[in-house]
Amino acid sequence: MFVALERLLNLEEGYRRTFQVQGRELLLLVVEGRRLLLENSCPHRGAPLHTAAVNGRVLRCARHGIEFDLSSGRALNASCGNLVQLPLSYDGDRVGIDL
Ligand code: FES
Repeated sequence: MFVALERLLNLEEGYRRTFQVQGRELLLLVVEGRRLLLENSCPHRGAPLHTAAVNGRVLRCARHGIEFDLSSGRALNASCGNLVQLPLSYDGDRVGIDL
């Protein structure tokens, strides 16, 4: 089942918005032209990531400052789990997620 999240024309560079989908909070981002859908929860201690700083391909969690590579999801300056990235799906002029 496709769940639409956003219209494609709204996905400009720097886009950032959270969505609730079946009890999960998701974060849709556009970084360097790439669309990313992440769980809005830091793998370190669960802080929401929608307030994180993004610099190039690096996301820095606002709570304790751990940095994550948005390409691999890996932490760069600490040992903890990886960002949870979800695949995006497309239907007409919408982007979303297949459940
Ligand atoms: S909760 Fe994100 S760095 Fe600790």
